Amino acid sequence: MRSGTAKINEGRLIQARTQQSFGDDPVEVRETDHYKEEYVTSFVERWDELIDWDKRWESEGDFFIRKLKERGAKRILDVATGTGFHSVRLIEAGFDVVSADGSPEMLAKAFENGRKRGHILRTVQADWRWLNRDVHGEYDAVICLGNSFTHLFNERDRRKALAEFYAALDHDGILIMDQRNYDSILDHGFSSEHKYYYCGDQVSAEPEHVDEGLARFRYEFPGGHVYHLNMFPLRKDYTRRLMREVGFQRLDTYGDFQASYRDSEPDFFIHIAEKLYKPDDEGYDKDGQGSAGYRSKD
Ligand SMILES: C[S@@+](CC[C@H](N)C(=O)[O-])C[C@H]1O[C@@H](n2cnc3c(N)ncnc32)[C@H](O)[C@@H]1O
Repeated sequence: MRSGTAKINEGRLIQARTQQSFGDDPVEVRETDHYKEEYVTSFVERWDELIDWDKRWESEGDFFIRKLKERGAKRILDVATGTGFHSVRLIEAGFDVVSADGSPEMLAKAFENGRKRGHILRTVQADWRWLNRDVHGEYDAVICLGNSFTHLFNERDRRKALAEFYAALDHDGILIMDQRNYDSILDHGFSSEHKYYYCGDQVSAEPEHVDEGLARFRYEFPGGHVYHLNMFPLRKDYTRRLMREVGFQRLDTYGDFQASYRDSEPDFFIHIAEKLYKPDDEGYDKDGQGSAGYRSKD
């Protein structure tokens, strides 16, 4: 890994790294901790070309804001802040936001993006697996967006992270978490119009290798700059099962922001999980699926 100039992140010095390192056999890199090596400074600097804030804003509309307001949420913990897109959006919509991420490079960029728009982001560097050690307080909503949960490579890490999200919530709080439609990629191959999340049209984002344990995506930017992310291909029903098993009671899963969809169609699924416990909840059937949600047409 090459180092370059140093950058200040809230009093801490972080080395600017320009190259990713996947070793001799990149498809064998299947480790939760590797995400920090992947978000090198030069990739983070280009991330906003990939997600294009204006187009993303347009395509997701006020979906998250509406869902949060419907539930009276005010205090939001963004656990996968990245470059700050949702943190900034929610601050501008009047929410009280704390912005966490395990990557200091991402948080530094988010802070800079917030400053440019006149906001001082409250940032905390925290890995999800130890979230409550570093982030205190109770939140009405935890958001984990932009296909972030996919970075966890083993089930223990996923269960621990979800348990930490659950613990950070007030008794009736919600978790909003999204993921790529990996079922479709695994079962039918990749096809994406980049309509929703990755909206920058100058950047290509495509899987280079996919098996049940790895989705390795290749991102090519103008000028021939190439980066990769190694991710775990979460199947939708598996994610839903884990969320229920850590204690979330009601669970709605949307496909590209729509309540009704064929499972193979959406690029992304968005899960909204409720912590509120109701002993005799009629919406919670024997399979544990909330009848209010999961309105797939298949
Ligand atoms: C794909 S980016 C998405 C960023 C942002 N939410 C967006 O939509 O643009 C995933 C983010 O999750 C963070 N992340 C991945 N694994 C993590 C972990 N175990 N703990 C904390 N943050 C993690 C990464 O640092 C990165 O900022």
